[in-house]
Amino acid sequence: MTTQQTNLQYLPSDLKPELLPQHVAVIMDGNGRWAKRQGLPRIMGHKRGVDALKDLLRCCRDWGIKALTAYAFSTENWKRPQEEVEFLMSLFQRALRQELKEMVEENVQIQFVGNLQALPKALQEEISRSMDETKNNRSIKFTVATNYGGRQEILQACRAIAQKVQQGILKPDEISEQIFESHLYTAGITDPDLLIRTSGEMRLSNFLLWQMAYGEIYITDTLWPDFDRAEFHRALCAYQQRNRRFGGV
Ligand code: FPP
Repeated sequence: MTTQQTNLQYLPSDLKPELLPQHVAVIMDGNGRWAKRQGLPRIMGHKRGVDALKDLLRCCRDWGIKALTAYAFSTENWKRPQEEVEFLMSLFQRALRQELKEMVEENVQIQFVGNLQALPKALQEEISRSMDETKNNRSIKFTVATNYGGRQEILQACRAIAQKVQQGILKPDEISEQIFESHLYTAGITDPDLLIRTSGEMRLSNFLLWQMAYGEIYITDTLWPDFDRAEFHRALCAYQQRNRRFGGV
C-alpha cells in the first residue's frame, strides 16, 4: 500500500485508495474502427493505440496501481493481412526502443508474456533487453501479452507439469492451484482485479482465461485510441461500486 499512499496527491478525490484495483488488464480493441472513422489507414489506429497505452501506464503509476497488463497481439492475430502483422511487429519494436529510457527513469518493470519464440528475432532481442534493463524496477509491473493465447498458455502449463510427473519430480495429487499457476506465463503476477475492454465487445477473446476467474469486467463503447484518463476514471468509479464476493455471500 506504500505506493498508493505516496501517490494519493494525484488520485481523483472521488476514488477510494483502499478500493483501487491492484492489477488492471486491458483489451485494447477498436483501433481499426477508430482509423476508419477518421478516414485513415488501420495502421494509424494502432499507432494512436500506443499513445493511449503509454498514457494509461503513466496514469496507473500516478494513481498507485501496481500492475497493468495489455493484450497487444493474440495467437489469432497472425490471421490478419501480412502488412498489418508486419506493421504491428515493427511498431512494438520501435515503441520499445523509444520508450525504454523513460520506463527505466519512471521505475517501470516491463515484461512480456506469450509464445515469444515465434516473434521476429529483432523484436525478441528488444524484448529481452527491455525486460533485463527494468527487472529491478518497482513502481509498476507492466506486462505486455504478445503472441498470447489463454488456451495455449494452459496447454503449455499442462505439458510442463505432465513432464515433471513423468520424471517423478511431481506426484499427480501434489498438483495444486499454486503449482499450476507457477507454470503459467504469468507466474509471479497477481490475478487482475479489473479487465477493461474497449469498443463494446463483450468477450474474453482467449485472454487470461485462468487468471480472470474472479476478475471484474468493464466494457466501454469508446474505441481504444480515445481511451483517456477520464475514461479510466469512469472505469475505476464503476469498479469501486462492485461488490466482490469471490463466490461467498
Ligand atoms: C485491436 O484493435 C488492437 C490490436 C490487435 C493491436 C493492439 C496493439 C496496440 C495498441 C499497440 C501496443 C503497443 C505496445 C508497445 C505493446 P483492432 O485492430 O482489432 O480494431 P478493430 O476491431 O476496430 O478492427
